[in-house]
Amino acid sequence: MWTDRQDLSLIDDFCTQSPIIPVVAIASSTDAIPLANALLEGGIKVIEITLRTSAALEAIQLIAEQLPEMQVAAGTVLNPLQYQQAIDAGAQLVISPGITENLLDKGQNNPVPLLPGISSASELMMALDKGYSRCKFFPAEAAGSIAMLKALNGPFSQVKFCPTGGITLENAKSFLALSNVICVGGSWLSPSKLIEQQDWSGISRIARQSLDNCQQ
Ligand code: 3PG
Repeated sequence: MWTDRQDLSLIDDFCTQSPIIPVVAIASSTDAIPLANALLEGGIKVIEITLRTSAALEAIQLIAEQLPEMQVAAGTVLNPLQYQQAIDAGAQLVISPGITENLLDKGQNNPVPLLPGISSASELMMALDKGYSRCKFFPAEAAGSIAMLKALNGPFSQVKFCPTGGITLENAKSFLALSNVICVGGSWLSPSKLIEQQDWSGISRIARQSLDNCQQ
């Protein structure tokens, strides 16, 4: 029996707000609020801002302060320092593409929970050992896709995943049909090109179409 060291109610609440999480690399923090509003308009109430750009922390802060109806996660968090920066900016969830011992330790019982990324049975066992039964599965398509998730459900039926990496409008529904998948994430929902062009209605349209597609 494992001891949970993740706030499961917070994570499950975040992951069930909408079945799909937009994964965003934002070039300019001035786009944060219009982008988040465009997603809300399209029916999506969660956003993962990846710490891959220098604008990311400010974007998280603006959304956390100005749009309480949008839940914001920090993604691509690689170490405890970035974890703390994400908390300080107001992120409600921290997501990592992989695991390190330091990151798993920082996330244990943290009021801002960690969704750690795994891509193998051994990594999942390390995460479970540290009390994590909700994980990101990354890079989903490259690391075995649906067949891998089905296989992991044998020995690890208590674990629920958010697959990301190669999820698209076309394949999202097949991932969501799996009993061990709570939500999926991906960058297809907020293409950089549309953000650059400030095509907010285009982003709302993709969000609505993606939700319709997953909920049919
Ligand atoms: C992530 O960090 O979750 C991925 O980079 C998203 O992958 P995608 O661009 O293939 O959707």
